[in-house]
Amino acid sequence: MAGRPLRLTSRRPPPKLLLILLFILVPICMIGIFLHGQKISYFFRPLWDNPPQPFTHLPHYYAENISMHHLCSLHGWSPRSQPRRVFDGIIFSNELDMLEIRWRELHQYVSKFVILESNTTFTGIPKPLFFAENRARFKFAEGKIVYGVFSGRTSVRESHGDPFVLESEQRGAMNALLRRAGISSGDVLIMADTDEIPSPETVKLLQWCDGVPPMMHLELRHYMYSFEFPVDYSSWRASIHIYGPGTRYRHSRLTDLILSDAGWHCSFCFRRIQEFVFKMTAYSHADRVRWQNFLNHSRIQKIICRGDDLFDMLPEEYSFRELIKKMGSIPRSASAIHLPSYLIENANKFKFLLPGGCLREPE
Ligand SMILES: *[C@@H]1O[C@H](CO)[C@@H](O)[C@H](O)[C@H]1NC(C)=O
Ligand SMILES: *[C@@H]1O[C@H](CO)[C@@H](O)[C@H](O)[C@H]1NC(C)=O
Ligand SMILES: *[C@@H]1O[C@H](CO)[C@@H](O)[C@H](O)[C@H]1NC(C)=O
Repeated sequence: MAGRPLRLTSRRPPPKLLLILLFILVPICMIGIFLHGQKISYFFRPLWDNPPQPFTHLPHYYAENISMHHLCSLHGWSPRSQPRRVFDGIIFSNELDMLEIRWRELHQYVSKFVILESNTTFTGIPKPLFFAENRARFKFAEGKIVYGVFSGRTSVRESHGDPFVLESEQRGAMNALLRRAGISSGDVLIMADTDEIPSPETVKLLQWCDGVPPMMHLELRHYMYSFEFPVDYSSWRASIHIYGPGTRYRHSRLTDLILSDAGWHCSFCFRRIQEFVFKMTAYSHADRVRWQNFLNHSRIQKIICRGDDLFDMLPEEYSFRELIKKMGSIPRSASAIHLPSYLIENANKFKFLLPGGCLREPE
């Protein structure tokens, strides 16, 4: 009986040990949070962030050699006697190879390729006019190109500090350029980034069917670095519109409707390491370059071949199940079917986008 209080006191840990433990643990935690704060917060995203409103997926039917009449009716639409005109509107950064694949793929369906390029990046860094300098490469489309230059401001970094301001101004300039290209009510308008390529069957469907919704997002197969690394079907920002008086160029959530499996989105699909470095610093999320060695060429090359993350970040997922499934490297795919035809026709020229081609040109 008398032993009980004695045992209680002997169990209490000596305060000295507790203090030492605190002195060790607190700095370790602080260093851990400093180095991996982003990862920690992304890992717990399912707890602090709500998933975006789910989309309503429109089924998408296609097979080779099926008549437009049949395809339109499968979607509940009716065939047109005349095709709509198609305008492809993009804001260009430096994705020259993806631009060539995009325009070759869509050339026979598109009336005007409307392309806007700025002499600064969204983050306000002066940038060469990559398209203007390489225009000769796009001779095949010359008659359809409507090109505009946006005068960027380098002061954006000091005044706003918000790359999204410059980005939205460029989207405004795009509306003016589209009008200059002669777009009018009833035309099809594609709003997408250069590397978000709608498949020809998607464009044909909107071109040839009546009764299609006036605006739909496009669900694109998302790839990273090349078509060797398919990520998922999560790409949704691209959209396709039947142009009307209220149509404004945007690259954000516009509607709940999304057309399933409507094309390809190949992120960071560059030929040269230098282009990766440019995109990483020019990008709206340039703040993700937290360490100078993120731009180290041999580090980037290794990451490309492994299918790892350039910014050492966790995927943006809203459930632990999806997060854990997507953690680590992207599994490699040996499939090169259902890809843009121009890419397959010129497989040798675009080796770096195909299975086994992860090694990039040094400069
Ligand atoms: C596609 O259809 C055309 C005529 O409708 C036919 O001549 C051709 O053989 C078909 N191709 C295939 C691959 O079925
Ligand atoms: C961008 O172009 C505009 C108009 O041509 C010019 O006034 C401005 O100085 C240019 N900015 C840079 C950073 O080259
Ligand atoms: C780049 O990273 C490699 C290892 O990944 C290292 O050997 C090299 O020194 C680094 N280069 C620079 C300039 O930091």
